[in-house]
Amino acid sequence: MKQEKIYLKDYKEPAFTVDSVNLDFNLNEDFCRVVAKSQVRRTEAGAALHLNGEELKLVSIKINDKPLSADQYQITAEELIVPSVPDSFTLEIETELQPQNNTSLEGLYKSNGIFCTQCEAQGFRKITFFFDRPDVMTSYSVTIEADKQKYPVLLSNGDRIKIEDLGNGRHKAFWKDPHKKPCYLFALVAGDLGVIRDTFTTVNGRKVNLEVYAAHGKQERCWHAMDSLKKSMKWDEEVFGLEYDLNDYMIVAIDDFNAGAMENKGLNIFNSRLVLADSNSATDVDFHSIESVVAHEYFHNWTGNRVTLRDWFQLSLKEGLTVFRDQEFSADMTDRGVQRIEDVDALRAGQFAEDAGPNAHPVRPESCMAVDNFFTMTIYEKGSEVIRMMQKIVGRKGFRKGMDEYFRRHDGQAVTTEDFASAIATPNGKDFTQFRRWYHQAGTPVVTIQENFDAAKGELTVTLEQSCPATPGQPHKEPFHIPLMMGLLDKSGSDLKLNCDKITVNSDGKNLIELKEQKEVYTFTGLKDRPVLSILREFSAPINLKWEASEEDLYFLMEKDTDSFNRREMAQKISLRLLHKLIDQARNKQALNVDPRFVKAVSAIIADESMDPSFKAKMLQLPSYAVLAQEEAVLDAEAFYQARTALRQAIAKENRGALLNIYRKFHNVEPKSRDTKVFGHRSLKNQALTYLAELHDPEIMEIVNKQYWEAQNMTDRMTAMMILADSESAHREKALQNFYEDWKNDSVVLNKWFTAQATTNRKQVLEDVKALTKHPAFNITNPNNVYSLLRAFGANLVRFNDPNTNAYEFYADKILEIDTKNPQVAARLCAAFNFVQKLEPAMKEKALTQIKRMVAVESLSKNSRELLQSALS
Ligand code: ARG
Ligand code: ZN
Repeated sequence: MKQEKIYLKDYKEPAFTVDSVNLDFNLNEDFCRVVAKSQVRRTEAGAALHLNGEELKLVSIKINDKPLSADQYQITAEELIVPSVPDSFTLEIETELQPQNNTSLEGLYKSNGIFCTQCEAQGFRKITFFFDRPDVMTSYSVTIEADKQKYPVLLSNGDRIKIEDLGNGRHKAFWKDPHKKPCYLFALVAGDLGVIRDTFTTVNGRKVNLEVYAAHGKQERCWHAMDSLKKSMKWDEEVFGLEYDLNDYMIVAIDDFNAGAMENKGLNIFNSRLVLADSNSATDVDFHSIESVVAHEYFHNWTGNRVTLRDWFQLSLKEGLTVFRDQEFSADMTDRGVQRIEDVDALRAGQFAEDAGPNAHPVRPESCMAVDNFFTMTIYEKGSEVIRMMQKIVGRKGFRKGMDEYFRRHDGQAVTTEDFASAIATPNGKDFTQFRRWYHQAGTPVVTIQENFDAAKGELTVTLEQSCPATPGQPHKEPFHIPLMMGLLDKSGSDLKLNCDKITVNSDGKNLIELKEQKEVYTFTGLKDRPVLSILREFSAPINLKWEASEEDLYFLMEKDTDSFNRREMAQKISLRLLHKLIDQARNKQALNVDPRFVKAVSAIIADESMDPSFKAKMLQLPSYAVLAQEEAVLDAEAFYQARTALRQAIAKENRGALLNIYRKFHNVEPKSRDTKVFGHRSLKNQALTYLAELHDPEIMEIVNKQYWEAQNMTDRMTAMMILADSESAHREKALQNFYEDWKNDSVVLNKWFTAQATTNRKQVLEDVKALTKHPAFNITNPNNVYSLLRAFGANLVRFNDPNTNAYEFYADKILEIDTKNPQVAARLCAAFNFVQKLEPAMKEKALTQIKRMVAVESLSKNSRELLQSALS
């Protein structure tokens, strides 16, 4: 297999324009015929016609209705080439496909008897020979012919023109999309599906038909997705002035789907786990994810579809921006402070790890082997942070001005991240030349802070220095333009007025330091007493802050900062210092000494009746293992586990009564409510229960067991099941058995059962997971099954890296097995090996042996190969 890299610097404008394309699908059980008829014009004199196409059977090719003879074209593994074509012509290509055998789940495939498509990034080339690149945009008309009984629902993008009964048991649907689009946004669905319907009236009074499709019997679980869609449509009108532009908006839930969802124009296709929900079957977190992913795909209609990508290296242009938009939407729907904490936790656990590992890459990469490997935390989540920094610098009002300018300039175009940055900068009189390094340089910058207070002069000087670790291919980095939102607090915890001429005040009136040099000094004058510095408020930049603040200041900020993000951040910082000591003690086989001061501070939080419950739940959360793995020089999973458990136990022991009070106060209060406030109460009381379970106290385990059996919603049931699954309680087996019996015919829900067993700290979890891969309910060709069992286990740092087992070997076997069927899914599992360089020598050796074994497999996909190879260099 050819393993070539593609480079951004090789980008060339397309040599042809397509004025329109008509796609005619004839769907059958054992084969499908596709006729693609395009109106093509050459824009580069003399250019030969190169069309992308993979794994296709060509039936015929015609130019201006004349069939080409075999010597007039040539087919390679990746292209169809016609050396000589007229300047303007009709191109007709007929291909034959076998969707029923397509296990890669890209292009046209079948899921539970339903035909569906996934074309992003490069799946369209598995449907027909075409210009499979985002900068070739054209108008689509589509016809779909299929058996009327088996496939009553026939969907594609745009407007429904008509449906004809062909009289022979078959029918044919006609669709036309009035908007030009790149082929990665094409979609088709044909099947026997249930549907729910509603309407939305846009700000200009246009009525839009909304439809959500799912397997028969599941459609009643689609109402939350429908509500989320309506909220998103309204929010985008209100916040960004963006109105929907078609008469229909359709969402289809599919069980076999590589990713979360896809924003195909007017016809989103979703992984059913991100559509189906009711309080019996979905947790509060599921409801929240569905709302945000429905919003994400809807927001793509403007950021992605109306304005699209010039090339795949620009992927973050739409993904970073659309994640930013969905995060803002979620902040408005729930609690802004808590939402920010969740988004930063995810960024740190996932993206910071990626940026520090062998597969670090810039937000706008310069090369790649497999385009599908670009769907990363860096492109999405760090991409969103880059947008957020722009918004911090210019303020919310300024940002809106910039967005308006972006659509004014680029509606209907395929553009670059540079075009975006320029549209935001210009109307705000800003220069983002240096800022754009965030797009080009990988790695998480480190900023160190030195403070000095001169009491005689009443002056505080703050010295900031930045650096950025080397990343693959980028040994040296230029300084970044870093916005640090900040404040100074007086003794009572009130914000002081800042006297410093180097501070930027943005259009929201927020104070920012804009660090641009490698080192800069800021002097704040007119201070009576030493103030306490609060910096990186709201996590205004995706950096690692090295700040040797005194314990006094950290505790002060944790209690009093006016920025709620920073209060929680200080709690994390203190816990990390403590965990670091405990890990050291564990590694040296010493007794673990938990600092009573910290336990006392946590107890005060637990007892604080005035603190918002959902915020309190965040305050009580200790840093995850993924964060510890980044903070610590060595990934010693067992020591991490002992340290974190010791700290949690100390907190639980000291607060047994108070935690039980929280539990009793909020348990079963409005158990069916989906109100944000009730979500908060539930998350706090379930967190109290999880802490209490650390005590291994039979009385507590009775409460857990009772919660499992009497649960009135999935959040409570799942919490109890996870605690039981991770225990040696006599109640364990019965609960797991019961959950299985209840949900064995519901694959979306049963995935929770796999995850609960893959994420425990039990020593035998590897054996559990191995056995589950042989369970009749586990299907290795279903991505959700793979993710909920195998990927969840790979992310279980403690047991995946347990020196007493060889999980790596088992995992490598599974990656190889999946890789032959579905390279995209296999590649997603490879991330479990990202920490390899941090392992202790013996473990590292074991992991490298497996990576080498996988890379040595000749037929390994380029997707997996690209990610594994880098771990070796
Ligand atoms: N564009 C989709 C989204 O962000 C994701 C598609 C994922 N595709 C893939 N090849 N992994 O909503
Ligand atoms: Zn997206």
